[in-house]
Amino acid sequence: MTKNFYDRVAKKFGGYGYGAGPRYKSEYPTGNPEKIFREKLLELSAKEKTALDIGCADGKFTLSVAPFFKKIYGIDTSKVNLDIAKKHSGEKRSKNVEYSLQDAARTLFEESFFDLAYCRRGPSYYKEYYRVLKANGYYFEIGIGEADAAELKKTFGRGQNYGQMQTSKLNKNVKELQALGFKMIFAGNFHYLEYYPNYGELDLFLQGVPIFEDFDSKKDKEVLKKYVTKFATDKGIKLTRHRLVMVVQKVV
Ligand SMILES: C[S@@+](CC[C@H](N)C(=O)[O-])C[C@H]1O[C@@H](n2cnc3c(N)ncnc32)[C@H](O)[C@@H]1O
Repeated sequence: MTKNFYDRVAKKFGGYGYGAGPRYKSEYPTGNPEKIFREKLLELSAKEKTALDIGCADGKFTLSVAPFFKKIYGIDTSKVNLDIAKKHSGEKRSKNVEYSLQDAARTLFEESFFDLAYCRRGPSYYKEYYRVLKANGYYFEIGIGEADAAELKKTFGRGQNYGQMQTSKLNKNVKELQALGFKMIFAGNFHYLEYYPNYGELDLFLQGVPIFEDFDSKKDKEVLKKYVTKFATDKGIKLTRHRLVMVVQKVV
């Protein structure tokens, strides 16, 4: 389901997401998780380090951090996204990046191959990430929190992790990572707000993200209108977001 979803989105929009975004405004009361994730990753980057990008999609983020590493291997199960990423292969900025179609649950890499691994809203197969990391290597993750788009999902009566919106994903992930032997370096929950300028923009956004993998602009029109009416503010249509950021180290 997920694999097809990302292939479908990439075919429709020419990559991950819905094109040249974001076209919404954001407010970060406790900090911007994307910025914090990137800063933490770059703090531990180095020109002699080899990194794994788990769920690299079209390689936009991979290329943005590639200058800070010796080499990055990007893996994904979405062939359409990887084909888009590979289009840049001949360019100078891609010289230390290699993409391959691989399932993060069972990669083809040798044990203890990477200095660090990161995952930006991709899958969380921690046992495999532990295996491929060198001793003292770091794993970074920015993931979707249980309260992400909660009011929207409640209005729709479905959505990503619907039914688990009361269970702390951060606690669950931290426990799982620690049980494998990872040492916690950083773990934080980030709740923030996005404001969409109009119905059309929110509708377009929902076509490109997995909040509802089965989102259908026509079928979901009435329910989306209901949400828009309820959450319209002076700043735009409000959407509450939730991200987790974690940094852990493999100790042996
Ligand atoms: C939300 S997208 C994020 C893409 C990219 N990391 C970014 O930040 O723009 C999640 C990506 O994870 C990939 N993915 C999902 N399950 C995977 C798996 N088991 N192995 C490898 N990639 C996977 C999807 O195909 C998709 O491209």
